[in-house]
Amino acid sequence: MNKAMFNSRIIGTGSYIPEDILTNNHLEQIVATSDEWIIKRTGIKQRRIAKEGQYASDMALKAADEALEMAGIPASQIDLIVIGTVTPDRQFPSCACTLQNKIGALKAAAMDVSAGCSGFVYALSIANNAIRCGEADHALVVGTEVLSSVTNWADRGTCVLLGDGAGAVVLQKTTDNTGICSIHLKSDGSFGDLLYSVDEFAPRANPSALSRENQVKPYYLVMDGQKLFKRAVQCLEEIALMTLERAKVGVDELALIIPHQANIRIIKALIQRLRVPIDNVYVTIEKYGNTSSSSIPIALNEARKNGRLAPLDKLLMVTFGAGLTWGASLVEWNP
Ligand code: ACO
Repeated sequence: MNKAMFNSRIIGTGSYIPEDILTNNHLEQIVATSDEWIIKRTGIKQRRIAKEGQYASDMALKAADEALEMAGIPASQIDLIVIGTVTPDRQFPSCACTLQNKIGALKAAAMDVSAGCSGFVYALSIANNAIRCGEADHALVVGTEVLSSVTNWADRGTCVLLGDGAGAVVLQKTTDNTGICSIHLKSDGSFGDLLYSVDEFAPRANPSALSRENQVKPYYLVMDGQKLFKRAVQCLEEIALMTLERAKVGVDELALIIPHQANIRIIKALIQRLRVPIDNVYVTIEKYGNTSSSSIPIALNEARKNGRLAPLDKLLMVTFGAGLTWGASLVEWNP
């Protein structure tokens, strides 16, 4: 196998969380649920909801601004923007192109990645590879989601889980061995029916039957929670161990794990299998719920600001989502 000449390291992190808070008590007014049930079964106490007219690229902009400021480089130096999202502003042009224009990253190539809740780790992998093979010196990687726009607010099995937000990192080319040490991705479309989008008004055989109103009707998310739960724990354990093994790093060497924040019970089941104490895991789910592609970069930015990462700490980011997709990245922290 060819050994790449470069590595990439994370030199900036940023995040944005919308102001409006939706508590479990609010949800009790909307569906047959209770604060007690939601906390016990998911660990979620509240989630943030974007304002009407606030799109994925608007939140991405705020997260990207913070990440660029920390990185200390102007947007004009970004060569590549990759966004993980299942809720882009529009089907096309991509959310990444919209962001490129908003931040003025004039020389950057830009694209979206659709990989469910694994979107950020998938996007990170694409950007990391572009840097490793010398195609880019700096890349901006973002997870941004307005899940509230695709939530079926009559379905208590999903509406209590989801929230909005965005997170971003700036990657820089480096010739030393720190930074992103390994990333591995997997997918299995045979489990696609466990979590998918439904559009009741999707164009079928007869386009003339479509009214303008029907065409703009958004889709919503459908999930088989129980089956997904079991697959999630298996996938997370598998990819975490594989990523560590390929990097020749032991579980006991990890300073911090940032898992996708879908359910505190999934996180606890994972760390029990890995034999990692909860103190070595960064958890945000009680505040923000499941923000899909955004959950890992939001947690990363908070962990960094809260002093949870020291130079050369080994960090594992691990995720799974619709597809099914799953993936993990081992990072030697060297901002
Ligand atoms: N409030 C009260 N009761 C509820 C609620 C609710 N919000 N939701 C379900 N229930 C009820 C069910 O109807 C069921 O009642 P019954 O026993 O009378 O039939 C009971 O609670 C148990 O339901 P389960 O579905 O078995 O509950 P479970 O413990 O599995 O928790 C949950 C459900 C939270 C969805 C869990 O399965 C889960 O977290 N799954 C994984 C979700 C996930 O990881 N999603 C990933 C990505 S999401 C994304 O990509 C955006």
